[in-house]
Amino acid sequence: MTTPRILVFAGSLRTASLNKQLARLAADGVRAAGGEATFIDLRDYAMPLYDGDIEAAEGVPENARKLKTLFKAHQGLIIACPEYNGAITAVLKNTLDWISRQDGGESGAVPYEGKIAGLCGATPGQFATLRSMDMVRHVLMQLGTTVLARRVGVPRAHEAFDPQGQLKDEKLAGALQGLAADVVRVTGRLAA
Ligand SMILES: Cc1cc2nc3c(=O)[nH]c(=O)nc-3n(C[C@H](O)[C@H](O)[C@H](O)COP(=O)(O)O)c2cc1C
Repeated sequence: MTTPRILVFAGSLRTASLNKQLARLAADGVRAAGGEATFIDLRDYAMPLYDGDIEAAEGVPENARKLKTLFKAHQGLIIACPEYNGAITAVLKNTLDWISRQDGGESGAVPYEGKIAGLCGATPGQFATLRSMDMVRHVLMQLGTTVLARRVGVPRAHEAFDPQGQLKDEKLAGALQGLAADVVRVTGRLAA
C-alpha cells in the first residue's frame, strides 16, 4: 500500500496566523500517523478575486493551476479554517472556487472528487470556528470531497499554544492527532 499523501493548509494569509500554526501541528500529526504531509501557505499562491472576465481573458490563474496540481497529487486534505463573521474566510472560498473551475479539457471536479478531508480551526473567540467549519464542510461536500465527521476547534487560541508552538491542552493536542490519524487511515483504506 502506498503512503497516503495529505495536503495541509490554513484559510488565512497572515504570518502569525493561529490557523497556520494549527495546520503545521496537523501536518506533524499526519507524519506521526504514517502519512506523508505537505504543508503549504496560501500566501505563496496569491490569486485575484474570482472574476469571470479575468477567466475568459486569461484562463485560470497560474497559482490556481499549481494548487490544482497539488490537490491531484494528494489523496487527502486537512484545512485549518479561520472564522470571519461566522463564516468561511474570503481567501479560502476564493481559492476553493478558482480550483473548482474547468481548465482546458479538465473538469473542475477532478481536484476534489474522491478526496477525504479533515477540518480544524483556531480562534481567539469562544465558538471554536464551528460555524466556519460547517461552511467549509458544505463547500467541500458540494465539490465531491468527503469530509470526516470528526473535527477539532480550538477556542481562545491566542493563549492555546506554548512557546514551542505546541497545543498546551493535552486533550486538544490528542484530538488533533486523532483527526490527522483518521484522515491518514481513511485515505489509506480508500486508496487500497
Ligand atoms: C473580519 C473578521 C471577522 C471575524 N469574525 C470572527 C467570528 O465570527 N468568529 C470568530 O471566532 N472570530 C472572528 N474573527 C477573529 C478571528 O478568529 C481571528 O482574527 C483569528 O486570529 C483569525 O485567524 P488567523 O489567526 O489564522 O489569521 C474575525 C476576524 C476578522 C478579521
